[in-house]
Amino acid sequence: IVVPVILAGGSGTRLWPLSRRQKPKQFLALGGQRRSLFQQTVLRSAAIARVAPPMIVGSASHRFLIDEQLAEIDHEPDCIVLEPAGRDTAPAVAIAAQQVANRYGPDAMALVMPADHAIDDTEAFVAAVNAAADVAEAGELVTFGIQPTRPETGYGYVRCLPANGRAVRTVDAFVEKPDAEIAENYVADQDTFWNAGMFLFRADRMLEDLEALEPDLMQNARHALIGAEVDGRMLCLDTVAFRGCRSISIDYAVLERTDRIALMPMDAGWDDVGSWTYLDRLPAADDAGNRTQGDVLLQNAQDNIVHSSKRLVALSGVSDLIVVETADAILVAHKQDAQSVKTLVKQLESLG
Ligand code: GDD
Ligand code: MG
Repeated sequence: IVVPVILAGGSGTRLWPLSRRQKPKQFLALGGQRRSLFQQTVLRSAAIARVAPPMIVGSASHRFLIDEQLAEIDHEPDCIVLEPAGRDTAPAVAIAAQQVANRYGPDAMALVMPADHAIDDTEAFVAAVNAAADVAEAGELVTFGIQPTRPETGYGYVRCLPANGRAVRTVDAFVEKPDAEIAENYVADQDTFWNAGMFLFRADRMLEDLEALEPDLMQNARHALIGAEVDGRMLCLDTVAFRGCRSISIDYAVLERTDRIALMPMDAGWDDVGSWTYLDRLPAADDAGNRTQGDVLLQNAQDNIVHSSKRLVALSGVSDLIVVETADAILVAHKQDAQSVKTLVKQLESLG
């Protein structure tokens, strides 16, 4: 059995000011879509073979949003694990792996699915997951890899050993968010993939690795689950124990440090909706390469991303800008600086 574990606790700061603390990007329907990224992820998970209902791991502050969005698509999750604070993805995965083992047995598989991905080709996605399940069942940790099409610095890269006839590739090294020059070299390299941030593993295998590599984190994660309060299908983790987990991503905590890890190549029109320039990869550009949403007026403007929520936004004689208007904040940034919106938001938060 494969249990989809949907990670929905991120803060999505690079899509500020549309993505906000109360409603981060995974709960938004972007680029004129009907369903939010989170809803699309839940719907996508249902297409996998031998699949259980999804397990959601998100922030306690979004419990009503999660509930509401699940009701909208008429989906009953197996359980919703609520974190009292953000601790990045390793604690979330540690809790989910225990919960999967408790409910389905230690050899049940978990498929970690971030809630901020766009995947065009569900069939190809499902085929890759089904093929990876055979490998994960035998105890290997499987990560999914995308052939890079641009020198993206917002992703992790996975370098593999040359293909050897198996459906999966053997992982040589992980390189998280490299600089532009290194990323440029990787694009040309057939054996280097983007880390899709999706992982498939047997619950017992992940727990063994976490126990060995992050014993303190694992102990806190165990207590967070033992002390959890059950409220219907919601599971509110013990605050003190969970806060005791150190904040680290599963990539750094386990993936980069474990052996027996394989990569399943996936060609499914995958993308992480990471920053505003994501919209550049959608087709709806005008003749001058602008992508607009809402009430926007352009004159002699090229290759801009413009989002208006309420007011008319007019641009004249500018190119390669990101302009986002919301009720209480306006962002104007150069596209080259799309990743830095994150540090801008950090500054804002430190100002209170
Ligand atoms: N439950 C929970 N709790 N989920 C979280 C938390 C948390 O504290 N923090 C982040 N998440 C969720 C986010 O909502 C997102 O769905 C997922 O975990 C990944 O977090 P991101 O913050 O979006 O990571 P990233 O995009 O910078 O990098 C990761 O994904 C890339 C591809 O999407 C890495 O795995 C990269 O290597 C990878 O290329
Ligand atoms: Mg992401």
